[in-house]
Amino acid sequence: MIPRVTATIDLAAIQHNLRVVRGLAPRSRVMAAVKADAYGHGAVPVARALEAAGVDALAVACLEEAMELRQAHLLTPIALLEGVISHEEAALAVYERLQVVVHDHWQIALLEALPDSAQLSLWFKLDSGMHRLGFPLADVPRLVAVLRRHPNWKLEGWITHLACADEPDSDFTPTQIARFNDALAGVAGPRSIANSAGIIGWPQARTDWVRPGLALYGCSPLPQVTAAALGLKPAMTLESRLIAVREYAAGEGIGYGRRYVCPERMPIGVVAIGYADGMHRAFANGTPVIIGGRRVPLAGRVSMDMITVDLRAVPQAEVGDAVQLWGRDLAAEEVAGYAGTLAYELFCGLTQRVHFRHLEPTAAAVEARSTQRGR
Ligand SMILES: Cc1ncc(COP(=O)(O)O)c(C=O)c1O
Repeated sequence: MIPRVTATIDLAAIQHNLRVVRGLAPRSRVMAAVKADAYGHGAVPVARALEAAGVDALAVACLEEAMELRQAHLLTPIALLEGVISHEEAALAVYERLQVVVHDHWQIALLEALPDSAQLSLWFKLDSGMHRLGFPLADVPRLVAVLRRHPNWKLEGWITHLACADEPDSDFTPTQIARFNDALAGVAGPRSIANSAGIIGWPQARTDWVRPGLALYGCSPLPQVTAAALGLKPAMTLESRLIAVREYAAGEGIGYGRRYVCPERMPIGVVAIGYADGMHRAFANGTPVIIGGRRVPLAGRVSMDMITVDLRAVPQAEVGDAVQLWGRDLAAEEVAGYAGTLAYELFCGLTQRVHFRHLEPTAAAVEARSTQRGR
């Protein structure tokens, strides 16, 4: 059976992108964000590829995501970015040797209820201006006192998250970095500031640890720089097929609401992918797809199982031809803009109807990379 819609995940591309990140931040250790099923790429295969390439830690949002990796026997340290929300989770996090990001005093209370012998590994998250999670910067002395009270607790480091790292003209990123550094002046422990945009756009954010997500999946986090210019390779290619090709006269409307009206007699193709697969209904007329190596525009509203495209640029196209929605030849970042969203949301929005195929890196390539990193 040929799958209707296939997401091909190039694990060697993810390993390559990790090397690009290491090149940008050679003195930093790398905690790779593999939350949300590795941004829709498949948490276990992605984590295995990153582990084989020597990543220093993995970051997930919650305990369920960490357990999936533990059950797959990943050995790399795993951090819970949102920390724990109950006594049971706190106990399980210790048992599974997870690193807990602690962002609020109620979480400290949960951890203090653990037996004194608990070997806890934690990060303290500080709010330097994002105003989502994190302790106020003024709480640093209290947090240092907490650590003194618990000699068994191992501090992995201090984390903050940048609100505007993808805006090169914003002065808020230097402000956040300065606030974070000032609050921690004279305080021991590694620092971690940068997500992908921070790593690429803000050298001063490349501290002891960096936390890339999007860049590892081959996308540029900065609107004005392409992934190709950064040397990043797209990891996900999403493909379907043409299942109908028809000619319509000028003035004929296509699909629901007749949202596209043919300006002349022209071929229209029907592609087997819709919003039930994760193709956003918000995609505008003109959203590009690739058929026969050419860009072809969306013509008409996205429906549950299908989209319609203007085939004038590829008059030879026929039923069965492959259609690329994003990936190798078409950046997901660009496509996302046609739905007013970001590549993050496209990736995470793929549904269980999509067939996933993970291309394993060749053993020779892994060997070459390990040698390069002197391991
Ligand atoms: C705390 C934290 N660090 C790092 C990341 C990775 O961000 P990005 O995918 O933009 O590199 C995220 C993602 O949302 C995050 O929440």
